[in-house]
Amino acid sequence: MRTGLCGELDATDVGNEVRLCGWVARRREHGEHLAFVDLRDRSGIVQCVVDGSVDLRSEYVVAVRGTVRRRPAGMENPALATGQLEVGDCTVEVLATAEPPPFLVEDRADVDEAVRLRHRYVDLRRPRMQANLRLRATVVSAIRRAMDLQGFCEVETPLLWAPTPEGAREFAVPSRLQKGSFYVLPQSPQIAKQLLMVGGFDRYFQIAKCLRDEDLRADRQFEFTQLDMEASFVTQDDVLDFVSAAVLDAAEAATGERPPAIERMTWTEALDRFGTDKPDLRIPEALVDLGSVFEKTGVRAFAAPTVKGLRVPGGASTSRSRLDALVERAKALGAGGLAWFRIVEPVADGPPGLDSPLARVLSEDEARGLVQATGARPGDLVLAVADEHRAACRVLGQLRVEVAGSPVGQGPHRYAWVVEFPMFESVGADGHPVAAHHPFTMPHPEDLDLMTTDPLAVRSQAYDLVLNGWELGSGSVRIHRADIQAAVFAALGISDEDAESRFGFLMGAFRYGAPPHAGFAFGIDRLAAILAGEESIREVIAFPKTQSGGDPLTGAPKQLAAGSLAELGLRTVAPA
Ligand code: AMO
Repeated sequence: MRTGLCGELDATDVGNEVRLCGWVARRREHGEHLAFVDLRDRSGIVQCVVDGSVDLRSEYVVAVRGTVRRRPAGMENPALATGQLEVGDCTVEVLATAEPPPFLVEDRADVDEAVRLRHRYVDLRRPRMQANLRLRATVVSAIRRAMDLQGFCEVETPLLWAPTPEGAREFAVPSRLQKGSFYVLPQSPQIAKQLLMVGGFDRYFQIAKCLRDEDLRADRQFEFTQLDMEASFVTQDDVLDFVSAAVLDAAEAATGERPPAIERMTWTEALDRFGTDKPDLRIPEALVDLGSVFEKTGVRAFAAPTVKGLRVPGGASTSRSRLDALVERAKALGAGGLAWFRIVEPVADGPPGLDSPLARVLSEDEARGLVQATGARPGDLVLAVADEHRAACRVLGQLRVEVAGSPVGQGPHRYAWVVEFPMFESVGADGHPVAAHHPFTMPHPEDLDLMTTDPLAVRSQAYDLVLNGWELGSGSVRIHRADIQAAVFAALGISDEDAESRFGFLMGAFRYGAPPHAGFAFGIDRLAAILAGEESIREVIAFPKTQSGGDPLTGAPKQLAAGSLAELGLRTVAPA
């Protein structure tokens, strides 16, 4: 139906007759017999000049035939890629009329998200959504190519499945044939891919739809897509290399620039330096240990197992009310308090100038030590938190991010591998430790003996990939030996019967020859959103759900007709 695309016309087309199809973006009349029509398709916009009158309105779908020519001098539009050109002497055929659109189809229009989603088919015409979904497609094909090249085989796993023990709430689907029974939609293909390893597919991957019934946020949807992979006879380093290749290829395909090799740090180091297992490396400042500075302190606020400090460059101009708000924020995050020091010019050769409620109680050595350890200079601000080690790191790490206030999609892309996660993250109310990843994660070989004596000190062979402070993905070396699996279940307080009923089928498979294996999965929505410079994964998903889990376009979720319920053997209970 067409000879080319609107946005791709260039000087070489001048003089050519073209036929273009698209939507009427704008129409301006010049007198009775001349109209300028901006025609839009997925590639962009071109101006078409129509002699005579035609009845055209915004978003009509039209086919235009005319001749490409240069715009008259002074009429060029530098804001448009085709702004030097126009299509002249046009005849227009209306392919479909359209009602006035619910909002302007352009990026500048500030439209409520619920309205955008209700008319997503109109919203998708906006250049930004066109670019985002195309970028996502580029990311997906680069990932697929990278996995192919590394010898991975793509295998589809079921959506109608059984529960996966990974911690998220799951969606259930009633069975019509076995009334009263339910399938569970997979939160990930975790168990399926481990079964594939037993099945001899030693390099598996899948662009996998995953489903989790969790609270929705900027980085979370009920449905999302993972690059899911697993391999046998490999080490942790092999997995990190496979995944790095896929992620860096995807980033390069999307941005035109290959990021440098991804740096690695241990979980302990990440906590120490950034107060989180999701370090945002765009922020240059790291937490520093002030333990030795305040080792013999008489200041009560600093008498704690750990004192952590953070330099905020140029932060001395922070207002008192903002500092008070930061103190409150630190308390809300669980710290006893927050100390702040504005660094001012020292008097002559005197000690560093500190402007702080604590300035008078600090010894001269402490003041000097604080400034030296943090590397602060006049004009900076230093924040300090004293507490138990994890608490001090976490609170100051959170403030580090909030003070910098860098939206996730902006600035450079800084990736990091965080390795050697602890095996267990805390002790639960029942006295058993809680798994930090999932119960199939292999403990660090050097820490096996600690499993019963000091479980919280056990390191695991689990690792995360982080980008700009967002968790991009997780993985681990898996347990393939029954004795280690039994020890982990025992530590977690999962009884033999419980293990048998929940994942007996996986343990059963392992009895038939399980290769050592390891894997990983990362969120494609999250990667695409950050590469597209967006703050929410909803901007790279064609039809996302709103914060409250609804789909304004279809009205889902909806009530089922009584007949459908009966067929499924279901009765609904009115909400309390
Ligand atoms: P995990 O649960 O950490 O690991 O998930 C891996 C990655 O999937 C993405 N993700 C999400 N993205 C959008 N919305 C959500 N609700 C959501 N939940 C998770 C994140 C996350 O880092 N089976 C293991 C992986 C493995 O061990 O191989 C797993 O799923 O980017």
